[in-house]
Amino acid sequence: MGLSIHSLRKLKERAQPIVALTATEYAIAHILDQAGVDLLLVGDSLSMVALGYTSTLPVTVDELLHHCRAVRRGVERALLVADLPFGSYEQSPQQAFSTAARFLKETGVQAVKLEGGYPRMVETVAFLTESGIPVLGHLGLTPQAVHQLGGYRVQGKTAQAAERLIDQALALAGAGAFAVVLEHIPHDLAGEMSAKLLIPTIGIGAGPHCDGQILVTHDLLGLTEKPPPFVKPYADLRALIAEAVGRYGADVRAHRSFEE
Ligand code: KIV
Ligand code: NA
Repeated sequence: MGLSIHSLRKLKERAQPIVALTATEYAIAHILDQAGVDLLLVGDSLSMVALGYTSTLPVTVDELLHHCRAVRRGVERALLVADLPFGSYEQSPQQAFSTAARFLKETGVQAVKLEGGYPRMVETVAFLTESGIPVLGHLGLTPQAVHQLGGYRVQGKTAQAAERLIDQALALAGAGAFAVVLEHIPHDLAGEMSAKLLIPTIGIGAGPHCDGQILVTHDLLGLTEKPPPFVKPYADLRALIAEAVGRYGADVRAHRSFEE
């Protein structure tokens, strides 16, 4: 039996950090799951890292559903969560429910993530969780709002903005969110929020004091051309792939056998 939203809560209660990553397709999702990652997110960042767009805005519900089905086949243990894409949930709790229900019915993901706080998204989170759909919140730098935010910059820097983030996180938790992603906010603030909330915080560019961490797998593995500055490269797959393909190409061009 794989992990549930309750397993994540237990990890927080035992002060055991939650390990989370994004997944985009079957083969790598299977490796990540077998390596013991606790939560896998089919994030709308795949718009950029897998589909080549320049933001998360263009990816469609149908495209994300397709990736979720592929990832689902590779994942047994991790809690599997899907991002609701831009434009598919903001209008009303009803719109969010229709979209989220498609993800659960058609792909087998166990929960959805949506960006934003009060008042509107708090109401939506309450509607979804009361309807049986677990929701992961997402506050701070919310990339779907890049044009409203004026770029991908640190959020919650003033005392007033920090206060507002804390209120929103508490409101999302009150509405039933099972955890909340905190993206690109001051590290102290993320620590304070993690201490105040009973639900786990999962940070990205938010420092080490969160209850868990998430990264975009392509950034972690060195597949992204320009990863964000807060990502420590754990591998350089671009170089590894280029080198392997280079050797293969040399063998082919030299008429050398490349069969074992
Ligand atoms: O889409 C994504 O990859 C995300 C995470 C990095 C939190 O939303
Ligand atoms: Na996302």
